[in-house]
Amino acid sequence: MQPTSSSPWVEKAKRLAAEAALSMVQNVRYLGVGTGSTTRYFIEGLGKIQDQFDGAVASSEQTASLLRQTGIPVLDLNETGDIDLYVDGADAFDPHFRLIKGHGGALTREKILATASRRFILIVDETKRFDRLGDSVSVPVEVIPFARSYVARQIVRMGGTPALRERYLTDNGNQILDVLSLPLADPSQVERQIQCIPGVVEVGIFAERLPDLILMATSSLVVERLKAV
Ligand code: 5RP
Repeated sequence: MQPTSSSPWVEKAKRLAAEAALSMVQNVRYLGVGTGSTTRYFIEGLGKIQDQFDGAVASSEQTASLLRQTGIPVLDLNETGDIDLYVDGADAFDPHFRLIKGHGGALTREKILATASRRFILIVDETKRFDRLGDSVSVPVEVIPFARSYVARQIVRMGGTPALRERYLTDNGNQILDVLSLPLADPSQVERQIQCIPGVVEVGIFAERLPDLILMATSSLVVERLKAV
């Protein structure tokens, strides 16, 4: 279901999906926390259960700031070792649980945290579900500024249409190319191919490290626990 920007149920659905994930914060020492408006609701709720874990590793400066405001210790991934549970949103997912992420610009740290975590729970509203990733949203690619044009040319050769995200730098000091029309018949192959372009820091296709569980809140405001096809 595609909402208009004014669909009030979408905000309610984001909050519901985030609240459903709070009950899964059990037997957790270190938590990883994603970035975006859905995870913002998750962070709000974390304040009430912060005695159940030691601290959180943030996927962005924005998330780190929200965690601190909520009174949750923000930890360094270099100090924690692997993370017990990572909770994050997404821009799109398909029936195989492959994702597109990074519209909030945090894709690199998000992919590191998802991969470094024993469990990855995705919290989304129904508007993020697509039959095929290629039918969905643009694919963000974080690039070292020096290589921006070179990377863009390689992506054009792959059939994509890259556009520089204007007046934007990631928390890592890099730029983002938002790629439209990228052929995504085999998302894993495209993920690896883009990662191999010199100058690419990371691509927002998550086809290798899939979520273990998706909590999707529908327009009827019911949270569904999805299973991968
Ligand atoms: C940030 C992301 C977010 O998870 C994604 O953009 C979804 O955000 P929202 O919950 O605001 O819809 O990948 O880099």
